[in-house]
Amino acid sequence: METRSCRSRAHPSLALAKYWGKRTGGINIPATTSVAVTLEALTTTTTVQVHPCPEGARPGDRVMLDGEVQEARRFRPFFEELRAIAGVRSLPGDSCFTVDSMNDFPTAAGLASSASGFAALATAALAALSGTANPEEVSRLARIGSGSACRSVYGGFTRWEAGSERAVQVRDETWWPDFRVVVLPVTVEAKAVTSREGMNRTRDTSPFYDAWVGDAPRLAGEVERALEERDLERLGTAARLSYLRMFATMLGAEPPLLYWLPRSVEIIRELARLRSRGIPAWETMDAGPQVKVLTDRIHAPLVVETFSELLSLPAIVSGPGPGASVESL
Ligand code: PMV
Repeated sequence: METRSCRSRAHPSLALAKYWGKRTGGINIPATTSVAVTLEALTTTTTVQVHPCPEGARPGDRVMLDGEVQEARRFRPFFEELRAIAGVRSLPGDSCFTVDSMNDFPTAAGLASSASGFAALATAALAALSGTANPEEVSRLARIGSGSACRSVYGGFTRWEAGSERAVQVRDETWWPDFRVVVLPVTVEAKAVTSREGMNRTRDTSPFYDAWVGDAPRLAGEVERALEERDLERLGTAARLSYLRMFATMLGAEPPLLYWLPRSVEIIRELARLRSRGIPAWETMDAGPQVKVLTDRIHAPLVVETFSELLSLPAIVSGPGPGASVESL
């Protein structure tokens, strides 16, 4: 077979109602429904080449991220699933894949690089193999690599239902043009505990886990209603409850999980002061110390200005962005 290649783009998915916890049986099947926004301002660009496997090297896939060769183990389940799909569709599944991926933002520091990374990878790999990338199939495949990646396949606002193998779009990127996320990077260090390990530890050892899972559907519903109404205060309030309860559950794990840095807490406290002055700005956080602020177009510059001195990288302001796409085939 001849070598075929495809280049794709995808943007991270920031959860407003969080996914934290996996059901047993199946790969990355969520215990909680998450609702998220796809962030336009951060981009992963990925090129996948499908080619005959090198002699004696099986499976022989190779992944580079920001110029560094990645550990093959992390990608094995993804490529196994890709080969299974190829088998069912009689595509050349005995081929090997060479991947070159670039992020225009810090990798693995809690900025959801795995979401855009696997969404871009699944899009390019399926398009290189079959000539097209059907979003339902891409979302299902991307999830094998990283759960949140199944949401990044879609633009705008997305929902990934508890127990589901893929995400759906709730509203596209034109739904709320004034909505803004300000990403405040407080460190460039990679996180110490991966979300996979953190989720498993929380489920297996935290006495608060069942309460978290029990409460999550209500919060996801509240976030969705706020989105429907484009009600920023209602959205921010529900999103705060979601991330804080997620972290409360993690703190109950053994050993406890604490992703925050002193600067993260400083920002959380300062945001409370801003809100008391009537500034609409509510934070959310993920498996890392970075803080993301939910606000609107008018107030985003004030949020950037307030925190610029605390940051290790410049703040990034983003509106809702498009889903993963094929750039060239
Ligand atoms: O699917 P992962 O491994 O990227 O985990 C995502 C976990 C959180 O970012 C904390 C929450 C979420 O819903 O994105």
